[in-house]
Amino acid sequence: KELCSLPKETFDLVIAANRLPVDRVVHPDGEVEWRRSPGGLVTAMESVMRGRDGAWIGWSGDPGEAPEPFREDDMQLHPVPLSADEVSDYYEGFSNGSLWPLYHDVIVQPTFKRRWRAAYERINKRFADAAADLAAEGGTVWVQDYQLQEMPAMLRAQRPDLRLGWFNHIPFPPVELFMQLPARESLLHGLLGADFLGFQRKADAYNFLNACRQLLAASVKGDVVRLPDGHATRAAAVPISIDAQAMADLATTPGVKARAAEIREQLGNPEHLMLGVDRLDYTKGIRHRLKAVGELYQEGALDPATTKFIQVATPSRERLEAYQHIRSQVERTVGQINGDHSPIGAPAVTYLHRSFPREEMAALFLAADVMLVTPLRDGMNLVAKEYIAAHDGTGALVLSEFTGAASELKQAYLTNPHDISALKQSIMNAIQAPPDVLARRMRAMRRQVMTHDVQRWAEDFLTNLAAAPERPR
Ligand code: ADP
Ligand code: F6P
Repeated sequence: KELCSLPKETFDLVIAANRLPVDRVVHPDGEVEWRRSPGGLVTAMESVMRGRDGAWIGWSGDPGEAPEPFREDDMQLHPVPLSADEVSDYYEGFSNGSLWPLYHDVIVQPTFKRRWRAAYERINKRFADAAADLAAEGGTVWVQDYQLQEMPAMLRAQRPDLRLGWFNHIPFPPVELFMQLPARESLLHGLLGADFLGFQRKADAYNFLNACRQLLAASVKGDVVRLPDGHATRAAAVPISIDAQAMADLATTPGVKARAAEIREQLGNPEHLMLGVDRLDYTKGIRHRLKAVGELYQEGALDPATTKFIQVATPSRERLEAYQHIRSQVERTVGQINGDHSPIGAPAVTYLHRSFPREEMAALFLAADVMLVTPLRDGMNLVAKEYIAAHDGTGALVLSEFTGAASELKQAYLTNPHDISALKQSIMNAIQAPPDVLARRMRAMRRQVMTHDVQRWAEDFLTNLAAAPERPR
């Protein structure tokens, strides 16, 4: 009885994301382990939330009942349950079978099912209820990403006192594609429940505003959308970043430097070491990258004895067919390239299909002479920024024009991954560039990344949110 009368703990800052920053893994012997969740959202938001006394609402990554709320790194983690059917309909279905491919230029064909759509709405409501319960009077709720587009309006209906923001970590598609979505109006209305919507690029914010204009006949003036009830929402670009200093510091620790040297030694101290680091996703252009590298070996432009390539591919969304397909294509191609070109005991391509600790990632970045970031479409791509932060000196970045990062990192070797000849040329330009050219390019990119870090991004977002629908002064 006494317990019930205790005041419920509420938070001035609540963030809601599909996933918690840690993933609950149950081993066959029943042992439970919490691992860091995959993806750029967690990389970014984990550093933002460290030191702020806030709450993070999200799924534990495991179907079934939600674990009890718990504290980690100054944060209250508040698990939201998803049943096995909900994982398959809301997460694998509508989020990653409908929205993900649609928002990434339909690189694979999106599938639309009414059951998936119903689950998405139901789970967004569940997240809204959890946030309504946890947010303090007049507090701020910051909703993340494409899995929670209906949540802002659902939350506003319950808690009009809150400041509501939403950030899209992935692209927002042109209206010609967005209009394929059966639930298109509900999603736009869902987002318009927020006060401020942040996007990776100006083009994404423009696409959203254009969708409101064309599909809702809403009043759009500049970057503000106004609904008939008077509620106004501002939409603008606030490009995300990394904890740049933390990566720079990590890359200068003696342990990481020694490990970087060791990685090169294990590969036979190659003249050139190329690196790719991605979730194993069809948006990342891994197939195109391997095609280019394979042809360069084939033609003799690259010597497989002295130029090595490491591809790290984190397991992702493994139950979806499109992901099983890309995995088998990548693994077959790596096998072919090594079969055709590798010297005995010294594979030209080292393929690593697993997750690594941050220190090992930093060592890989530091060891690599050339970083290959070749997505066919990517909201930002934090890996590109991590590589830059890890390099104080030389190092070259081959970067797809179809990433958000390309708008900021103009001194990269920018390339169109669909054009295999152009991609091969960009790789060769990066490999053959003189050290003084590389150093000059790296200095400029580092200045950009070090001064536009994730803390600055979070402050920009929260300042915009506090001032919305006006522009912050
Ligand atoms: P996405 O969000 O689509 O996965 P990003 O490039 O924006 O892509 O972010 C990926 C994040 O995951 C980066 O912080 C990167 O360092 C990290 N990462 C990628 N692969 C691995 C891996 N195998 N082990 C550990 N971290 C990884
Ligand atoms: O921002 C890209 C993103 O899709 C995040 O939303 C997500 O957390 C991450 O990549 C990893 O994907 P998933 O959570 O589906 O494993």
